[in-house]
Amino acid sequence: MNKFKSIAIDGPAGAGKSDVSDILAEKLGFVHVDTGALYRAVALYFLENNLDYISKETVCENLNKIKVDINFKNNLQIVNLNGNDITGKIRLKEVANIASLISAFSCVRDFLLEIQRNTVEFYSVIMDGRDIATVVLPNADVKIFLTASVEERAKRRFKQLKEKNIKCNYNEVLNLIKKRDNNDFHRKIAPLKPSQDSLIYDTTNKTIDEVVNFLFSYIKGKMNC
Ligand code: DC
Repeated sequence: MNKFKSIAIDGPAGAGKSDVSDILAEKLGFVHVDTGALYRAVALYFLENNLDYISKETVCENLNKIKVDINFKNNLQIVNLNGNDITGKIRLKEVANIASLISAFSCVRDFLLEIQRNTVEFYSVIMDGRDIATVVLPNADVKIFLTASVEERAKRRFKQLKEKNIKCNYNEVLNLIKKRDNNDFHRKIAPLKPSQDSLIYDTTNKTIDEVVNFLFSYIKGKMNC
């Protein structure tokens, strides 16, 4: 039996997975594994090398030139692409869009599976993504599916981008989120969906403190600690 604990948090873009996971990880003394960052790292490779990310063949053929790995510094996740720390480069919306497209290819999902699973051999983790409870960690100790209305998620994303001085307008953000939802929910392989044993929690109109407090009690109850 693995001595480390694992918590799976899935949900659509902008549901609050990342912020909530960061705070919960700190409260629990776990590391937060942001699996979207791995898909974004692969996406960045295709963007920077001007490669065709629409073609499944091109994407699958180029994966052997890519090495993605993660480590943790002061419990913060660092993502390396071919040996370079690219953690600060993967938040651009172009990268998110390419990540959403290439994540539909099974070769990409298989390529990243081992890296995600390996983390639980070394750390207690709170891992967020789209298929964590269903595919990556089907035996996770706690499984949560976070959701919120598409308008609320767009509002949050818009606020985050503005805070980072990234130029955007609300309608553009809303349309991008709708497009990513469409890709994530409807792809054939590992589509975004709650597992049968996930708690489904709607964060619309809830503050981050309300969400964290509720989930912290839920997790403690589930893990008997
Ligand atoms: O969570 P994020 O926005 O950083 O994720 C970027 C894209 O990566 C997302 O649109 C879908 C994909 N993704 C995935 O398919 N499976 C995961 N476990 C995490 C992300």
